Amino acid sequence: MFTSGIVAGLLFAGLAQCAIPLCPAPPQNASKPILDSFVSFSIEFSSFPDFAGNSSNPNAFSYTLLKNLGGLQGSNPIIRVGGNTQDYATFDASQTEALIGSFNFNRSKDYPTTISIGPSYFDSYSTWPNMTFLHGFNLAKNGTVGYDTLIGTVPLACKALGNGKLAYWQLGNEPDLYKTSSQGPVRPSWWNETDYVQEWLNKTRIMKQLVQENCPEVVAQGKFKFYAPSFGGAGNSLNLIRTWNAGLDADNDIAFIDSHKQPGVTLQGTLMNHTSTVLSVAKHLNESNLLANTGLPYILGETNSLYNEGAPGLSNSFGATLWGVDFNLYCAATGIGRVHMHQGTNYRYASWQPVQTVNETLGTKAPYYGNIMVAAFLGDLTANNVSISDIELGSTYQNAYAAYVNGRLERVAIIQMRAYNTTTGASGPRPSETFTFQLPPGTNKGASVKSVGVQRLLANGSDAITGITFDGYSYNYELDEGRPVVLNNVTRNEVVQVAQNGMVTVDVPWSSAVILNLHW
Ligand SMILES: *[C@@H]1O[C@H](CO)[C@@H](O)[C@H](O)[C@H]1NC(C)=O
Ligand SMILES: *[C@@H]1O[C@H](CO)[C@@H](O)[C@H](O)[C@H]1NC(C)=O
Ligand SMILES: *[C@@H]1O[C@H](CO)[C@@H](O)[C@H](O)[C@H]1NC(C)=O
Ligand SMILES: *[C@@H]1O[C@H](CO)[C@@H](O)[C@H](O)[C@H]1NC(C)=O
Ligand SMILES: *[C@@H]1O[C@H](CO)[C@@H](O)[C@H](O)[C@H]1NC(C)=O
Ligand SMILES: *[C@@H]1O[C@H](CO)[C@@H](O)[C@H](O)[C@H]1NC(C)=O
Ligand SMILES: *[C@@H]1O[C@H](CO)[C@@H](O)[C@H](O)[C@H]1NC(C)=O
Ligand SMILES: *[C@@H]1O[C@H](CO)[C@@H](O)[C@H](O)[C@H]1NC(C)=O
Ligand SMILES: *[C@@H]1O[C@H](CO)[C@@H](O)[C@H](O)[C@H]1NC(C)=O
Ligand SMILES: *[C@@H]1O[C@H](CO)[C@@H](O)[C@H](O)[C@H]1NC(C)=O
Ligand SMILES: *[C@@H]1O[C@H](CO)[C@@H](O)[C@H](O)[C@H]1NC(C)=O
Ligand SMILES: *[C@@H]1O[C@H](CO)[C@@H](O)[C@H](O)[C@H]1NC(C)=O
Repeated sequence: MFTSGIVAGLLFAGLAQCAIPLCPAPPQNASKPILDSFVSFSIEFSSFPDFAGNSSNPNAFSYTLLKNLGGLQGSNPIIRVGGNTQDYATFDASQTEALIGSFNFNRSKDYPTTISIGPSYFDSYSTWPNMTFLHGFNLAKNGTVGYDTLIGTVPLACKALGNGKLAYWQLGNEPDLYKTSSQGPVRPSWWNETDYVQEWLNKTRIMKQLVQENCPEVVAQGKFKFYAPSFGGAGNSLNLIRTWNAGLDADNDIAFIDSHKQPGVTLQGTLMNHTSTVLSVAKHLNESNLLANTGLPYILGETNSLYNEGAPGLSNSFGATLWGVDFNLYCAATGIGRVHMHQGTNYRYASWQPVQTVNETLGTKAPYYGNIMVAAFLGDLTANNVSISDIELGSTYQNAYAAYVNGRLERVAIIQMRAYNTTTGASGPRPSETFTFQLPPGTNKGASVKSVGVQRLLANGSDAITGITFDGYSYNYELDEGRPVVLNNVTRNEVVQVAQNGMVTVDVPWSSAVILNLHW
């Protein structure tokens, strides 16, 4: 088996060469404690009835997958219901169907672009106990239709999200693209940040009056708070900083500065590429730094590996799973407060397909295993202060992260992203990289790390779309409808010994990832 050592950054004096030093306590640039529900989701508005079902037919499979993640990170993912289709949806109070959508393939093959919802749409919020939601309200539709939709849906949403189901509010999806959308502009060319802010304030004030009338406890409990402005990304026709300066938070009702991102284009070139992940997150860190004085967390309220809902053979592959781990952990390490991975029925990048369709089989998809690894690495965020630090390996193909729990180093994650394609690589043995870490000396009343447990995220190769496991568990639908099932043909409970000098060495096959759990 071909192996090679890793030379990493600075070395502590006296340590053997090539060992990656680990600090016992969070280094200066480690994150602040990670917020609850870091692993969260965004579900396309038109797909939400598929994902959640309704009260006569709840989607238990989706619920199981979400609860698995909740169990690992200490609280359930927060579900944002929105996306482009939230801004297409109009309301018809007399419609009995939850959602009637029609496709126009010139505009999108993935979702309907003409949508009408009825009151029963909101029944889908009743199917998942203990889950919290944001309902994405339509901002794009102006005139009477837009106004009627807003006043028709706010009372239904606030009632459906009573009893602890309400996370936050959201009005409009990616309004920075309204003037330029390739699916048809919905605002005139002169519409600038000032106009957007005036419209947003006007409509959120109308919403607040309606909530006050229909669900006064929401306002009384201080829960009329927004994710905003939910822009599509840096460089579009509205600028986030100018928008903020134009008074977006004049009413003090924004809880999270929300931006979106769809980065990738190719697998090795951009997804399985740490350099590219660093560059793509940098734009958001810039924005977030410029708004640091607001004191509000900056989050990615809708993101995934590729625009246009992903590409087959790319966004549904294990390579994209590895991207998801690196991207999310890099976001966590650099202070992005929460990441909502975007989902939709038949979407190539989806973590799971909630219903059977002609296009896609019902089931757990490769990216879900990345969500699991991220949640496992963060651990229970509700019971502990967990801080993540980037152990920059200076490589395009791999990176590592450290998790500090209540100030002490507990876990290390390594993501190896060299493409190992089962189709092209099957002729030779699968290469691996060897990583050697220098563990910190005893810190806990003189105790030092006794042994290190290994959990692996594995598949046959970066192009695999099935047969994925984390720590020997499969979450596939066909085994136990999404509940974790231990496979007896995958190694688990692997332990690596700590050498006398505090060195620990682990092999990581190309296109795989590991978590090292330190046993102090
Ligand atoms: C509830 O879901 C079932 C199964 O998908 C469907 O047949 C029914 O029409 C739905 N009810 C409403 C009100 O949409
Ligand atoms: C889609 O585009 C084609 C070619 O431009 C056009 O002929 C057709 O009418 C369009 N369909 C719809 C539903 O707009
Ligand atoms: C919801 O959460 C409460 C409090 O944590 C718990 O007691 C209850 O069992 C949960 N219900 C479900 C269906 O998970
Ligand atoms: C209202 O919406 C229409 C189309 O959706 C758009 O053409 C128009 O410019 C909008 N007007 C304003 C003032 O936003
Ligand atoms: C938007 O346009 C109006 C009218 O031209 C102008 O007064 C205002 O300063 C512009 N706002 C921004 C943020 O550029
Ligand atoms: C919103 O704008 C409309 C039209 O300009 C105006 O009539 C209404 O009073 C405004 N509502 C609020 C709450 O600002
Ligand atoms: C990885 O991304 C960087 C930055 O975009 C790019 O320069 C580099 O060519 C990419 N690497 C590969 C192997 O494609
Ligand atoms: C971040 O901001 C700095 C300073 O304004 C700028 O020089 C740099 O190009 C920005 N980086 C990105 C990726 O936008
Ligand atoms: C889904 O399948 C239908 C019927 O085969 C096809 O017309 C449509 O293009 C497919 N949609 C996508 C997004 O592939
Ligand atoms: C954090 O600090 C380490 C060590 O100085 C450095 O290698 C790494 O690039 C930094 N990471 C970030 C995200 O600033
Ligand atoms: C794997 O290799 C095959 C054959 O060369 C190629 O068609 C396919 O695109 C590759 N897949 C990935 C995900 O790189
Ligand atoms: C391991 O077991 C699972 C579940 O029984 C099976 O689907 C899979 O094909 C097996 N993998 C190998 C490499 O035998």
